[in-house]
Amino acid sequence: MNNAGVVRVCFVCLGNICRSPTAEGVFIKLVQEAGLEHAFEIDSAGTGSWHVGAMADARARETAKRRGITITSRARQFKPADFDRFDVVVAMDSENVRDLVAMARSRADADKVKLLRDFGEPSDRGQPVPDPYYGGPDGFEHVFDLCEVACRGLLDELRPTSP
Ligand code: 4NP
Repeated sequence: MNNAGVVRVCFVCLGNICRSPTAEGVFIKLVQEAGLEHAFEIDSAGTGSWHVGAMADARARETAKRRGITITSRARQFKPADFDRFDVVVAMDSENVRDLVAMARSRADADKVKLLRDFGEPSDRGQPVPDPYYGGPDGFEHVFDLCEVACRGLLDELRPTSP
């Protein structure tokens, strides 16, 4: 949490066009539904650079749209300096965790890196949000469902407690 009591959260996957924009959109919606917009800054990024500047994958956007969420983010690459901008860096899989920890400049940076599904049900712990890029549309539905469960847990973990 920063001085203004705002928790800054960045969701990270490989390309920043499928999973992390979905998690970002789901988390924004949950935060809005909880009336907590003032308490969070929410963003996403990718460890890779292939899709920088691109809209999220059309399949991710269509899946989210059917569930009432408009994904507007454009892909960008996570940089070491982003550790200064965020309190929590939420990775989609263990490869993302490894790549982020390799970018950390300090123990404090590395400690910000979390795995999204660790915030889900007990049986979700340690599990990835699988990369849907080369699969069919079902993969995107599955990703959305996984993000929804875990983002609910993440919000419970991060929601401000009254003083
Ligand atoms: P994401 O999915 O990491 O969930 O955004 C991917 C998107 C693109 C690629 C890989 C994964 N790619 O290799 O281009």
